[in-house]
Amino acid sequence: MAEAGEHLEVNRAMWDERAPAHAASPDYMVERYVEDPSFVGDVVTFDRPRLGDIRGLTGVHLQCHIGTDTVSLSRLGARMVGLDFSSASISEARRLVERSGDDVTFVESDVYDAVDVLGGRRFDLVFTGIGALIWLPSIARWAEVVAQLLAPGGRLFLREGHPMLWSLGDARPDGLLVVEHPYFERPEPTVWDDPGTYVETDVELHQTVSHEWSHGLGETITALLDEGLRVTGFEEHDSVPWDPLPGYMEPHPDHPGELRLRDRPWRLPLTYTLQAVKPAG
Ligand SMILES: C[S@@+](CC[C@H](N)C(=O)[O-])C[C@H]1O[C@@H](n2cnc3c(N)ncnc32)[C@H](O)[C@@H]1O
Repeated sequence: MAEAGEHLEVNRAMWDERAPAHAASPDYMVERYVEDPSFVGDVVTFDRPRLGDIRGLTGVHLQCHIGTDTVSLSRLGARMVGLDFSSASISEARRLVERSGDDVTFVESDVYDAVDVLGGRRFDLVFTGIGALIWLPSIARWAEVVAQLLAPGGRLFLREGHPMLWSLGDARPDGLLVVEHPYFERPEPTVWDDPGTYVETDVELHQTVSHEWSHGLGETITALLDEGLRVTGFEEHDSVPWDPLPGYMEPHPDHPGELRLRDRPWRLPLTYTLQAVKPAG
């Protein structure tokens, strides 16, 4: 059985290598953030109706990667801190705000150490998602961190890949969607060896191994309830902001930057948005 630290190091090496390639990829639109100070990315735009007015809130974006969504939230008026364990991702995020002038702070830390590293600060908004939770072995430990980071009355906002999507095998020519990988959390990770990434890039990648964990919806919701949070919103979506099944997706007619299954898109939820509040008193 691999040690917890080994999972962390394997995944960190993978993300450190991808961060500069992602920052240079047209798909992350870094130049657009620099050139247009009012630009807000598609991922945050998708959820704007659910986010509501976040002006003046203090927020932390867990697993912020190169900071693009963190900057988008800041442009909607929240005072944001981004946190990620990949030093290369944090360097790219800091470079982005140095160039764009956005007032956002970035902190390098494992999610599980976030409470200590952030010095016990409490936030009105904890934001996370889009391929974040699969890098964490225990959803219960994550929920504990979220609960500790939230101020009384504060809100968790989570948009994530659906665990049913993570459970699928590769797309098949006959169009069948086959459940092949874990849906529920398991102690041992699923180990992948993939030379590619989810955005367009010419960079040749060498850190190809990653360790991932699925977390069922019930497990995620129960973990939050166990921490005393109140779930205030939960929606499943037929769209996803990356291409999970190459050759089998089409642009979503209603949501810029999102894809859906070309054939009978109503068969499968691809992502979800969950909101939960820490009771005030
Ligand atoms: C797919 S990215 C998050 C996506 C992000 N929403 C985006 O598209 O910009 C996953 C991020 O999680 C970070 N990560 C993975 N495991 C982590 C951990 N244990 N603690 C903190 N960050 C972690 C990686 O470094 C990477 O930046």
